[in-house]
Amino acid sequence: MPLDIEKIKIDLRRATAEAADDKMLETVRLGFLGKKGIVAQMYVGLATALPEEKKLIGKEANEIRQLAEELIAERKIFLGQQNKQSNAIDVTLPGIVSPLGTRHLIHQTMDEICDVFERMGFVIQRGPEIEREFYNFSALNIPLDHPSRDSFDTFYLDEADPLTPGRNLLLRSHTSPGQVRVMQKFKPPLAVIIPGKVYRPDALDASHSFMFHQIEGLLVGKQVTFSDLKGLLTTFCQKYFGEDVVMRFRPHFFPFTEPSAEVDIQSNIFKGRAGKWLEILGCGMVHPKVFEAAGYPAGEYCGLAFGMGVERIAMLKHGIGDIRTFVENDVRFLKQY
Ligand code: DAH
Repeated sequence: MPLDIEKIKIDLRRATAEAADDKMLETVRLGFLGKKGIVAQMYVGLATALPEEKKLIGKEANEIRQLAEELIAERKIFLGQQNKQSNAIDVTLPGIVSPLGTRHLIHQTMDEICDVFERMGFVIQRGPEIEREFYNFSALNIPLDHPSRDSFDTFYLDEADPLTPGRNLLLRSHTSPGQVRVMQKFKPPLAVIIPGKVYRPDALDASHSFMFHQIEGLLVGKQVTFSDLKGLLTTFCQKYFGEDVVMRFRPHFFPFTEPSAEVDIQSNIFKGRAGKWLEILGCGMVHPKVFEAAGYPAGEYCGLAFGMGVERIAMLKHGIGDIRTFVENDVRFLKQY
């Protein structure tokens, strides 16, 4: 019976194309070119064939053999290349390290400062950045149109304060409004620190920014004295700047504290600033008007308060000369810390 040579060719093409690996390809090779393969069988048939068929069968057997050899060789190359690609990942090579970010220096500084106070029993509270004039000024004994408001230059929003007709909301210009909010929420004794962002429309330069961070502190009880304030802030400075820090409390004025002071320090850690007094915070005893605004009964409580600028402290501690570097997001600067 004559062989269907075209069908054999189709089978051959399909079998080689479907050979997914070298082993399958070898099975195909044996099926066509092996000792018992199709081509060998064709040659066997040649022996018994009629003389006029012999020539044709011989020609067809050669054709199949040649085609099988070509297709198998081609497929072998293709599978070899595919193997190379899937072997392209060399798991024995050392891995690629993904760069890991660091906590921003401002947040590190805030964490460190808050940590010192938390170890002394203070708890963290937060106030809103969009604030009412009442909390930012009036409740802190800074009345409307009082000249002391000028030192807390303020960004006003277009949005009206729903609770005070005719007045707009603002971006808090210090963290002190948090004092009154905390006192409205909790009764003494209380010891809180209020870290956060504050805003002032200052022209940007090496030491001024329109957004910076402050940490506010408030301790209220029945027998809180100025000595407690001095002791507390001395402990803070020794823990944060080192035991050898030298401090002075310089009388100052703040509307929300009476008496008030600013704290200056000298420390060996401030390179190139030896012998110079550097102002680091404002503080004082809570003004009776502030207790009144918070709704505390008159004459019952006394308290101490303080507020410090985080950027300023970080700049002093790390010898940073320009406040703008904190917000420029230059990773070469940031990853040093
Ligand atoms: N709020 C003041 C400022 O922004 C800092 C300050 C001074 C906070 C004295 C206080 C304080 O709590 O008692 O400059």
